[in-house]
Amino acid sequence: MIRLEHVKKVYPNVTPLCDVNAEINAGDVISVIGPSGTGKSTLLRCINLLERPDGGKIYFGDEEITSPRCDIYKIRQKMGMVFQQFNLFGNLTVIENIMLAPVKLKGESRQSAYENGMRLLRQVGLPEKYMNYPDELSGGQKQRIAIARALAMNPDVILLDEPTSALDPTMVGEVQTVIRELARSGKTMMIVTHEMNFARAICSRVFYLDEGGIYEEGTPNEIFTNPKREKTRRFIQHLHVTEFTIRNGVFDFPGSVSKIDAFCRKNMAGAKQEMKLQLVFEELMQGILLSSLNVKNIYAAVEYSEGSGEIMLDVKYDGPMMNISEGDDVSYSLVKAESSDIQYMAGESDGFTNRVKISIQ
Ligand SMILES: Nc1ncnc2c1ncn2[C@@H]1O[C@H](COP(=O)(O)OP(=O)(O)O)[C@@H](O)[C@H]1O
Ligand SMILES: [Mg+2]
Repeated sequence: MIRLEHVKKVYPNVTPLCDVNAEINAGDVISVIGPSGTGKSTLLRCINLLERPDGGKIYFGDEEITSPRCDIYKIRQKMGMVFQQFNLFGNLTVIENIMLAPVKLKGESRQSAYENGMRLLRQVGLPEKYMNYPDELSGGQKQRIAIARALAMNPDVILLDEPTSALDPTMVGEVQTVIRELARSGKTMMIVTHEMNFARAICSRVFYLDEGGIYEEGTPNEIFTNPKREKTRRFIQHLHVTEFTIRNGVFDFPGSVSKIDAFCRKNMAGAKQEMKLQLVFEELMQGILLSSLNVKNIYAAVEYSEGSGEIMLDVKYDGPMMNISEGDDVSYSLVKAESSDIQYMAGESDGFTNRVKISIQ
């Protein structure tokens, strides 16, 4: 139904979309997730041409909608958009808000637009509000009206950009219910959301955006339970990460101590846990990898899990294998003593030949 080929969007200071490729099929309900600033809104806005991509092509059916010959107003009528901030017309009543586009853009008769509008108001549970003005409604009600308005054009697809994130928590549920019903009815939808449980419950596919594109995509189960790639996993598990890269054996040890200290403070890790981490980090890097094994290239990530409070040191490096549980010098003993679990994996991992994961509680 919609196909994106090498879509690129450049702003003066940032390029949120470098190379986006995707296929959206009729009936898909796609959740778009990812850290803020990764281009989720930009992606939705490019799809309905509120933003012009700077490169690549977007097809809607067989039509290339990024072509200069394409009538974007006509295409936009086939895509409903729901925004975080509702964007209802304050000077129009609820029913007029819903009737506006069908009457003005499609030339529908007022009578038929009214009847259809009332049907949609019943669908979102607000038929009695038809003569009210948006200001007289709660946030949750406004958003339900905005959804009814998007549906009034009978669009082929509905794009929703964080539809519940401006709402008081008590109103999130009513809007989610309306969206869930829509998903169940087979409407094609693409929804940017931070509500992971909701995304998981309603969608058929998930796009995780990062690094200028769809970094990982899969079924909800694949993405939420078994993400394959590092950044997806960190995002899903709410991990906070600080990274260290060592090339040609050059290691700024004092600098890394401060960096770990700042990281632990920011995440409010306990003093004891930080002490263990500093010790393990120093012994592993200085004592074992850089001196005794003479490793030259290392990537280390310190991950802090908000949920469990556990810290994991994930270290990848080139060089000889290390069997940490069999090593017997003082550095190995210290690492073993201060950690709660050590997993060593030989074999290629992201371009490195070895990997060790050390948990610290
Ligand atoms: N109109 C714009 N002009 C300049 N930069 C923009 C504009 N819109 C978005 N950006 C930048 O593009 C990046 C992606 O933004 P956005 O798509 O809103 O991210 P998300 O929705 O994932 O949080 C951000 O760094 C943002 O500051
Ligand atoms: Mg956004």
